[in-house]
Amino acid sequence: MAILPAEMSKERFDWLSKIAGEVIATPGCESNVKEIFDKTWELRRTRDDVVIFNQFEEMGNCIWHYQVTGNAIAEAFESIKGEGDRLAGACFTSGSAGTMSAGDLLKEKYPHLKLAVGEALQCPTLLENGFGGHRIEGIGDKHVPWIHNVKNTDMVIDIDDDDSQNLLRLFNSEEGKKYLVEKAGVPAETVEQLSLMGISGIANMLCCIKMAKYYELTEHDIVATVCTDSAIMYESRIKELDEQQGAYSELAAAYDFAKHLQGVRTDAMLELSYQDRKRVHNLKYYTWVEQQGKTYEEINQQWYDEHYWTDMHEQAADLDKLINAFNEKTGVLAEL
Ligand SMILES: Cc1ncc(COP(=O)(O)O)c(C=O)c1O
Repeated sequence: MAILPAEMSKERFDWLSKIAGEVIATPGCESNVKEIFDKTWELRRTRDDVVIFNQFEEMGNCIWHYQVTGNAIAEAFESIKGEGDRLAGACFTSGSAGTMSAGDLLKEKYPHLKLAVGEALQCPTLLENGFGGHRIEGIGDKHVPWIHNVKNTDMVIDIDDDDSQNLLRLFNSEEGKKYLVEKAGVPAETVEQLSLMGISGIANMLCCIKMAKYYELTEHDIVATVCTDSAIMYESRIKELDEQQGAYSELAAAYDFAKHLQGVRTDAMLELSYQDRKRVHNLKYYTWVEQQGKTYEEINQQWYDEHYWTDMHEQAADLDKLINAFNEKTGVLAEL
């Protein structure tokens, strides 16, 4: 059973309905996650055959990204780095903050690395305790996820959803791709790969650009991120933009390139001081302790107990054993 907000893309609903027995649409858009939580509490109360996996609070989510995504990024960097290159930063927009945990591993391996969390400017929860609806599907839900290791986060970067939305069209329409190759001088093989970024992937890339500008990084500094899904999930969104703004043209492509990519600046971002981090961490109280049943002791442990996160990450080996045992029991992996 999968639960997600009704206003998310049609492609996402189609995809989920293929893998979930039942898909429940809760009211609202991407940032209406409280409504999903309410639904899960209703299911807990009314059915005894459900187990809730809430990505925002399951530590398995962050352990997985620490172990798998973190090491994958480190391996990728080691395989491409040239003489004098360093992994200077990593940026992840936060939905559940699972991918953010890759940064915890990277900071252990590359202690100088700066770790940034991204969100939508239209829902600036981390930047200014703000709220609002936005169009970067998969991130930004008007709360701080329970599994976000805020104390280890160096920077908050907000991305205007108008930038990611319009770049989606630039990167995925014939006119846009032609402009990028012929007028902007982007190699054709790079342009062909741009559809690997969905809307939040584009927002991730924009976070990296903002971080690079903020810290005045050079050609020897590499900033890592992830493509959380691809443009295939958002063809209907591109159609919507065509309907609202008219068919895409070379002029529109030039405008989008200049405004939404080259025009990206170091606004709406904050390098976090100790007190800033604490302010973000403290916001967890209202969602998790007041509403969702977490304890006062544990929220304090997350901040004050220096072993809380490292002990969590060390569970990976035991979890692997359980996963292997489960796979053996079901026999599905062997069949594949
Ligand atoms: C499309 C998309 N982008 C970004 C994210 C955010 O990743 P995370 O939940 O690891 O913060 C998600 C995950 O939920 C997603 O589905």
